[in-house]
This record gives sequence, structure tokens and C-alpha cells, in this order.
Amino acid sequence: MSDQNAIPAAEPVLAPRRRGTLLIVDDDDGPRESLKMVFKGEYDLLLASDGPTAIELARQQRVDVALLDIRMGRMSGIDLLEKLKHMDPGMEVVMMTAFETTDTLRKAIKLRALDYINKPFELPVVRGLVGDAMQRRRLESEMNSGAEKMDALVAELQDQRIEQQMASTRGDIYASIIHDINGPLAVISGFVQLLNHRVARAKVLENEDLEFVRQKLHTISRQVGNCVEISQRYLSFLRRKPGEISRVSVNTLLNDFEHLARVHPSRKDNELVVNPVSVACTPRMNGTDFIQLLLNLTTNAFQSGKAVCRVEVSGELLSNPLDLTAIKDSDEERSMNMESFDNTPPLLRLVVRDNGGGIPSEYLTKIFQPYFTSKAPKQGTGLGLSIVLRLIKEVNGLLHVRSSLRMGTVFTLHIPADLRQDAPAG
Ligand SMILES: Nc1ncnc2c1ncn2[C@@H]1O[C@H](COP(=O)(O)OP(=O)(O)OP(=O)(O)O)[C@@H](O)[C@H]1O
Ligand SMILES: [Mg+2]
Repeated sequence: MSDQNAIPAAEPVLAPRRRGTLLIVDDDDGPRESLKMVFKGEYDLLLASDGPTAIELARQQRVDVALLDIRMGRMSGIDLLEKLKHMDPGMEVVMMTAFETTDTLRKAIKLRALDYINKPFELPVVRGLVGDAMQRRRLESEMNSGAEKMDALVAELQDQRIEQQMASTRGDIYASIIHDINGPLAVISGFVQLLNHRVARAKVLENEDLEFVRQKLHTISRQVGNCVEISQRYLSFLRRKPGEISRVSVNTLLNDFEHLARVHPSRKDNELVVNPVSVACTPRMNGTDFIQLLLNLTTNAFQSGKAVCRVEVSGELLSNPLDLTAIKDSDEERSMNMESFDNTPPLLRLVVRDNGGGIPSEYLTKIFQPYFTSKAPKQGTGLGLSIVLRLIKEVNGLLHVRSSLRMGTVFTLHIPADLRQDAPAG
């Protein structure tokens, strides 16, 4: 054995990259130099005369295959094998032995050395072994990088899908904004025309005219406020902020709804009756959402096929859970959101009943799908009921429809609610 410190720590032989890097570690000059001569044309070489130097080299540069002498002074080849495998488990290692016991060799194999070769070695044998080891390493690297690329691709596809989902949700939401704002905008433009008419005729506004203008302006500003709230609701949904739950009594909301429904352009000559709830309570739902879902159901009822129809909206507070086993889907009935309905009383039951043309049973499964409409082009976007269903899902409510072509249609909503101890009904 030679003096370990006399040997330079490393002698990398410069060669074009990607040939594979072979680390030769032997504290004996002779074998190290002869291996260098054998392999210098084939691989990039790193030479070390002891374990610590070899570790330092492997830290600085990727090693594909290492040829390690087992018996060395400062650190045994077995210890070095363990450390190198720890640093890079994919590195292939071939041990060089002189007179080692089978026990040592078994240990080397256990530490995942690829093979061992006896000294003095025959050149074709060592060449064959190192060549095999290089090929194994290359294959493994290729497989690893293939797997990494596959992972990256899967992750990218996943991102794309999320992006796409977001984009389609956005599309639905923009369409919903337009759907919900359409009603108030029609009212605003109708009233502005009325006002123009009245004001254009009058040289001076007398008491009666002033009162007319005042009332209409009040309705207009209410509708404008409604448009703003609708936009804010959907925009906060886009920003993924939960909508604020207002603590407004159900009868105040029903009152506001009635006012908006009466002036809605779809009402025409249809009759509207709104019955208040006899027990003071508040729905666990944003007030604008509450009014919006009633408006969407009532608008549909106004447009339900008969020249003039009667639409009745009523509410009731239930102090017991619903018997869900009694609710079954059929040709004339359908329930939505049963799976996440929170059946904990008190529950607010809202019923929107019309005596219009009814819904054909083949439509009953489709009416909640976004963009399904039976109306003539430009008369309906088919979004009203999908918005109602989304709002009901957001509050873990239940939506039920029963319809027959003879009798008309009844929509029943169940919404989690709170009793109002502090206020009388109304
Ligand atoms: N009360 C009802 N009476 C009869 N048919 C109804 C009633 N409510 C809903 N429908 C049917 O359900 C379909 C879907 O309703 P939805 O409110 O989702 O869209 P739409 O009313 O067609 O369009 P939009 O709401 O955009 O004006 C309607 O086209 C109609 O066929
Ligand atoms: Mg509709």
C-alpha cells in the first residue's frame, strides 16, 4: 500500500460529457493507474486513494459507477459503499477484493453492491462488469427521467383541468349575472321611459306628478341597488368568499320580494298572492339570494303557458325534521340536493304554486340543467332553475318540484332557519 496523502485528491480526466462517470477508489497506486489506462478513453474518470476523498468527489459530481477496493486504510470499502449508496441510491458499485471473507462479500451485496471482482483482475472481465454497470445506470436514469416527465405531465394536466373547470365556472357565473340582472334592468328602463313621458308633458311638476316621479325614482333606485348586490354576490363567489348571511326576518324578505315581483316585466296580467309566515324567523341565507330564488321561480310561473295564471307564494316554519322516506321521485315529482340536505329543524318551507301549463314529465329530469329551456330562442336562457338549485345547495337546503299538465306546478323549498325570539312575526 502507498502513502494515502501523497496522492492528489482527484484527477478528473476531461472528456466530452455524457459518457458516464466512473469513480475508481484504491489506495494502491498500481491497480488504480492500470484501471485509469483501461477506462480513460471510455468514461469520464474520477480517481481517489481513500474514502473521504471519494465522498468529496461524489458530492461535487454525479458518479454513475464506482469501483471500490474493499481493503483501504482510512475508510473500508464497505463503509464507503454504504456512504455512497446513501448519497445516491442509484449509483452502481463494483467491489474489488483480494482475500476477503465471504462474510464481507455478503455484507457488500446486502448494501446493494452490484458485483465484485477478484484481484488481480483480468481486463476483459473488469471491462465487461463496468460496461454492464454503466448500462444499468443509464437505463435506470432514463426510466427515472421518464417517470419524472410522466409525473410532470400528470401534474400539468391536472392544473389544466382545474383551470378549465375555473374557466367554465366563470362562464356560468357571468351568464348568471346577466340572467339575474336582466329583470331589474328591464324594470329600470321601463320606469325611466314612463318618467320621461310624464316629465316631457309637464311644464312645471305639480303635486301629483311630483309624487309619481318620487315613487318611480324610489323603485328605480331599489332596482339599481339590487343590480349592484347581484353583481357583488357573484363576484364574491368568483373570489371564493362566502356570501354574507344577513339576519333579516323572512317576512321582510317576502315583502321586498313581492314588491320586486309585482313590477317584474313577466308579471303582465298574472295574479300574485304572497302569504307571510306566521312565526317570526330568519332563513340562514343571504337576503338577496333568498329574493332571487323566489323571483326566478315566480318568473317561471308567470311564463308557464297560460294567458293568465295565479301564482301563490307562501311560507311556513317547521319545528320537526322532514320524513324523507315519504319523498319519492316519479313522473310528476323530483327532489334535488337530498344527499346534502341538513334536515335539522327549525326549517323554513317555501311553496311557489301556479296553475299554469305544467312541466311535461320528459322535461322534469332536465329543467335544473344549466341552459335547458323550452322557451323560444331569445325568450329564456335556461339558467333560472340552475341558479335556484345552486343557491339551495349552498345552504344545504332541499328543492322539490311536483308538476302536472292539468294542475300546474308546485316548487317547495326547505331552508335551514332560526327562530327570532326578539321580534314578532312580520
Ligand atoms: N312553473 C313552471 N311551469 C312550467 N314550466 C316550467 C316552470 N318552471 C320551469 N319550467 C320549465 O323549466 C325550464 C327551465 O327553467 P329555467 O328557469 O331554468 O329557464 P328558463 O325559464 O327557460 O330561462 P330563463 O330563466 O333564463 O328565463 C323552462 O324553460 C320550462 O320549460
Ligand atoms: Mg326561468
